[in-house]
Amino acid sequence: MSYADNCKVLFTKEQLEQRIKEVAKQIENDYKGEKVTFIGVLNGVYAFFADLVRNVDMPCHVDFLRASSYSGTTSTGNVKMSLDIKTEIEGRHVIIVEDILDTGRTLAKIRDELLSRNALSVKTAVMLDKPSRRVNDFQADYKCFEIDDLFVVGFGLDYDEKYRNLPYVAIYDEN
Ligand code: XMP
Ligand code: MG
Repeated sequence: MSYADNCKVLFTKEQLEQRIKEVAKQIENDYKGEKVTFIGVLNGVYAFFADLVRNVDMPCHVDFLRASSYSGTTSTGNVKMSLDIKTEIEGRHVIIVEDILDTGRTLAKIRDELLSRNALSVKTAVMLDKPSRRVNDFQADYKCFEIDDLFVVGFGLDYDEKYRNLPYVAIYDEN
């Protein structure tokens, strides 16, 4: 018995750990000899972020920001940054790390904002990608898994702030 018995496992802890290690190696190979600033998008990213950066064997700097999208009743998808990074990123290689890429609005907005601060490069790494939901042409540079249009929880992701602590990704089912 678990408080999350209504959630159906989609990716186990082992599958996530294995895939995150592979993506970390990809990043290591792409940035040989460089220093990278990893910027996590709170709150959902915390579990993926910790696992990803701990598997990257190279010098790095970490920082976090918070972004929320206000869709209102007409779903304008207006994204606002409500907590900014403290790091001066001009001239630095940046990788934005996000839990899940959905419509693409959040990451597109954050990427443009960081590029406007003259980062040397800005790439993105996501744990999950729902390509069928995209409203723009945004593509993640690094991703662990693509999923269908399902609402998922766990490994940082929440439903109403619940289930973030599940050690796996699961499909949320109200019933
Ligand atoms: P975009 O801007 O790409 O937004 O539409 C990405 C943000 O939407 C949230 N999101 C989810 N959160 N389960 C969640 O817990 C999901 O299946 C899901 N799909 C999207 C999430 O906050 C992400 O940062
Ligand atoms: Mg998020």
